[in-house]
Amino acid sequence: MHAAAVTPEVTPLRDRFGRVATDLRISLTDLCSLRCTYCMPAEGLDWLTKAQRLTDAEFVRLARIFVAHGVTSVRLTGGEPLVHRSVSDVVAALTGLDPAPEVSLTTNGVTLATQARDLAAAGLARVNVSLDTLRADRFAALTRRDRLPDVLRGIDAAAQAGLAPVKINTVLVRGQNDDEAAELLAWSLRHGYQLRFIEHMPLDADRMWSATEMVRAEEILEQLRTRFVLAPTSARGAAPAELFDVLDGPGSDDWPAARPQVGVIASVTRPFCRECDRLRLTADGQLRTCLFAHDETDLRGPLRAGATDAELGELIVTAVAGKQAGHGIGSAGFEQPRRTMSAIGG
Ligand code: 5AD
Ligand code: SF4
Repeated sequence: MHAAAVTPEVTPLRDRFGRVATDLRISLTDLCSLRCTYCMPAEGLDWLTKAQRLTDAEFVRLARIFVAHGVTSVRLTGGEPLVHRSVSDVVAALTGLDPAPEVSLTTNGVTLATQARDLAAAGLARVNVSLDTLRADRFAALTRRDRLPDVLRGIDAAAQAGLAPVKINTVLVRGQNDDEAAELLAWSLRHGYQLRFIEHMPLDADRMWSATEMVRAEEILEQLRTRFVLAPTSARGAAPAELFDVLDGPGSDDWPAARPQVGVIASVTRPFCRECDRLRLTADGQLRTCLFAHDETDLRGPLRAGATDAELGELIVTAVAGKQAGHGIGSAGFEQPRRTMSAIGG
């Protein structure tokens, strides 16, 4: 898309399978304001120290090098990126890069109500808000925090601030919210939010993921079809979400979207690794070329030892070249990576 912006002497980030990385996810912090049971233990994790975490200037310098190598979109994640106090300054610095990447953010929404306007003013394009249930008791059980009203206010504030279309990410977990798919879709359509269900992946600290228990894309679609008429849209391309037009359903007269849709991200049962254009930078400056990688490339060490932009760029190019073919979930040798989702960045 923005390939023309890449200066000709700089190598694009291409791997040995021909995939070109254009999307960088930066985990601004490993800290989080919630404790979702499918992600973290109740007591939290061994957090990084301040010295281990990159400074804002370091995040931005590395992002500039990625952008110079053809990255066109940057997504801020966590942990919870809004726990990082200067998140709006980081957004402003990133949108000020030349060429400017599209900057978006994935949040749990807990403090979004107070930050949405600043984020929009800093140039943030969009937000994805994680919301797994609309029922306060379930929310408290799932996240171990009683913050549903804050999240709902945050989502509303994001829409008001123009961070649209607001996307809602939902993970269904067996026995907790696995019956709520249709209810969440009805609510999203009424408010004009774009809902996407994400299959639960084996990336949790408590290792509770189970291939047989996980709620599969197929089952989610079956649930939705009990109340809605869905039609698959054409090929999903590089986007992980398979999108469906919602042709009819309860309350359809009140749906504000011109083309109401719902997405399903079947990372486990229909992997899209062959189209993957993503890279991840952890809060402690490690480059991960796959969510499920077992190795990382240390960028913080060389950065702090005085490496030039060209040297750091070379490290990135080499790391991407070695990106693994896919996650291999379900294959005999599959092993869950040591880092959990919250420490990698979603
Ligand atoms: N599998 C799938 N999605 C997950 N998330 C967190 N842990 C997992 C997991 N193991 C989701 C969060 C949030 C996004 C960043 O990733 O719910 O929506
Ligand atoms: Fe925090 Fe997201 Fe993990 Fe929930 S899933 S504990 S919101 S990092």
